[in-house]
Amino acid sequence: MLEVEDLHTGYGETRVIHGLGFAARRGRVMAVLGRNGAGKTTTLKAIMGLLPLSRGEIRLDGRRISGRPSYEIARSGIGYVPETRDIFPSLTVDENLRLAMRISPPNPAWTRERVIDFFPNLANRLTNGGNQLSGGEQQMLSIARALLTNPHLLILDEPTEGLAPIIVRQIHDKLQELKAEGLTMILVEQNFGFATSLADDVCVVGRGDVVWRGTSAQVCDDKAAQKKWLGV
Ligand SMILES: Nc1ncnc2c1ncn2[C@@H]1O[C@H](COP(=O)(O)OP(=O)(O)OP(=O)(O)O)[C@@H](O)[C@H]1O
Ligand SMILES: [Mg+2]
Repeated sequence: MLEVEDLHTGYGETRVIHGLGFAARRGRVMAVLGRNGAGKTTTLKAIMGLLPLSRGEIRLDGRRISGRPSYEIARSGIGYVPETRDIFPSLTVDENLRLAMRISPPNPAWTRERVIDFFPNLANRLTNGGNQLSGGEQQMLSIARALLTNPHLLILDEPTEGLAPIIVRQIHDKLQELKAEGLTMILVEQNFGFATSLADDVCVVGRGDVVWRGTSAQVCDDKAAQKKWLGV
């Protein structure tokens, strides 16, 4: 569904990703693992058109998306939940949701009512400001916003970062529900157990390139790879 081929990108003169490639298959969840600073977020930003490629190509369903503006990529069916969550702090929860609905298609599968139903925690917070939410509520709002764009592919950057175990569990169950519906996902995570329990496929990024790939079961068995590339 999404193919990243020979990706080279970075920040100005700083080259961060060199020759990275992977493919996310339809209906499957792929975890992208790797230590701090490996280049996971940078890769996602390149996919979303937020960083220019100096070489390589990114394709969605066989069509090239690299080089297109980020708003077009977001409209082409990729939902993005960034590491920073990107809630508008001075807008209410409801206003945050309504903004995301601007790029929802006609007869959407995900409506405002459905996301509120899916994340009941948000139902009581609709008139609260984005800046009044807990970390877990912010993460749910960020995922809800991405769902309102009605994506075929959902990309999440460290959705569990900084959250209490009980909230991590809730987010896990929600992503499991989305997976059961057949939604394709790319999940960047530091939480090894969380990632491998959701993912079918795993690729490990180390210093700007993919250093290991296989299935979730394989990475769980490969203690040497875990130690070398993940410090687990
Ligand atoms: N805006 C930036 N300008 C310059 N260098 C950056 C910028 N953002 C990240 N980098 C560098 O790019 C490299 C990869 O960073 P990136 O954020 O992609 O890593 P990551 O795998 O997402 O790490 P983490 O798990 O900590 O989120 C790091 O060396 C980082 O210092
Ligand atoms: Mg990151």
